[in-house]
Amino acid sequence: MDRIRIVGGQRLNGTIPISGAKNATLPLMIASLLTDQTLILDNVPRLADVGLLQRILGNHGVDVMTAGKRPGDDPNSGRTLHISAKHIVDTTAPYELVSKMRASFWVIAPLVARMGEAKVSMPGGCAIGTRPVDLLIMVLERLGTQIEIESGYVIARAKKGLRGGEIVFPKVTVGGTHTALMAASLASGTSVIENAAREPEITDVADCLNKMGAKISGAGTSRIVIEGVPKLNGARHSVLPDRIETGTYAMAVAMTGGDVLLQNARPELLQAALDVIAKTGATVSTTNEGIRITRNGGGIAPVEVTTAPFPGFPTDLQAQLMALMSRAKGTSRITETIFENRFMHVQELARLGARIHLDGETATIEGVEKLKGAPVMATDLRASVSLVIAALAAEGETMVNRVYHLDRGFERLEEKLSACGASIERLSA
Ligand code: EPZ
Repeated sequence: MDRIRIVGGQRLNGTIPISGAKNATLPLMIASLLTDQTLILDNVPRLADVGLLQRILGNHGVDVMTAGKRPGDDPNSGRTLHISAKHIVDTTAPYELVSKMRASFWVIAPLVARMGEAKVSMPGGCAIGTRPVDLLIMVLERLGTQIEIESGYVIARAKKGLRGGEIVFPKVTVGGTHTALMAASLASGTSVIENAAREPEITDVADCLNKMGAKISGAGTSRIVIEGVPKLNGARHSVLPDRIETGTYAMAVAMTGGDVLLQNARPELLQAALDVIAKTGATVSTTNEGIRITRNGGGIAPVEVTTAPFPGFPTDLQAQLMALMSRAKGTSRITETIFENRFMHVQELARLGARIHLDGETATIEGVEKLKGAPVMATDLRASVSLVIAALAAEGETMVNRVYHLDRGFERLEEKLSACGASIERLSA
């Protein structure tokens, strides 16, 4: 198993190109199941989760072709995928595949909308909380699907096709909103989603569906209206930049000090996080090329933050902020309201010398003068990268084990950081 070795203490200076967003790429690839024509996606990041979803889609009969590089292509631009779900050969998504990545459960919506049936394994528990799928099932039922749960599988049937309906979410759910968008696009009649998620990845998927011929309005607000159409077409769409990758590197610079341009990053995708980063003492500025983060001298100021659905502070940056706060000059408080168990990084940060006290959903972090390198291990993607951030500022060597978590969501992490002066290398087993 690969490990990452970091020797802390270097400031970060230079340019980091921001990749396409993982959490838009996954639902966009799944949306290809809605049409028998080819969906072309540009700016797709090279990530383990993308490869895994490719295998899952392949099991349904979907062909995914990766376009080769052309002369003059920007070396930092993502890949182009040509995805064709012309022939769906199997509407079952088995446990062995779905259990590896929760988002793959979302195939249930396009499969039942286009094929009238789907059998998808329940995704099961996960390291950051219980993460049920009751609201996704509610969406499908509201649109006329019969649901049965049998031996750990959700069996969805709508032999006569889906029909439009009103969906009122009792809580904001990203996956629930993606499910509703995809299913309602091919339903007969109009659907209305109330209390929809407003995350930029929802808007990106709605934009792509509209290019495919869907009639969606209001994406990006909490009320989305979808007029169903009988058929969707192929289209070409470029994945939006990854706001979580952007926020992660911004916090890394706020932690180590230095001056980095986050190329292609768009401030409106993470304004709440940038406001917090500015409060910690870093300078955040927007240029034509992206977002520039600078911190020269001065300490890290403590903050109080509560995670919330977009446009609030994202749960996917909570662990990284905690790493930054571990060296703040004073006491900070971070409250996690989205997932009940997303604090697995606390113990590992403590191994580096962080002082964090947990009380229910709130972590109190007493900033320390120094962190010290240690062997660490993490249980999920964002937790792992929070350890990388802490290690970049720690004295001595940190060995991050279980690097496969990082490979799920951060493209060329070691390369991007070492190009800015970090001492970081991957050790292959
Ligand atoms: C998406 O997960 C993201 N995943 C997550 O990113 C992200 O943390 C999360 O949204 C919140 O922003 C992808 O986009 C692939 P939710 P999702 O449905 O859709 C509860 C990462 O690190 N809920 O918005 O699964 C749920 O338990 C990942 O990249 C129900 O109760 O999240 C949670 O408390 C991790 N019933 C809340 O809603 C349901 O049926 C929000 O979850 C569905 C969700």
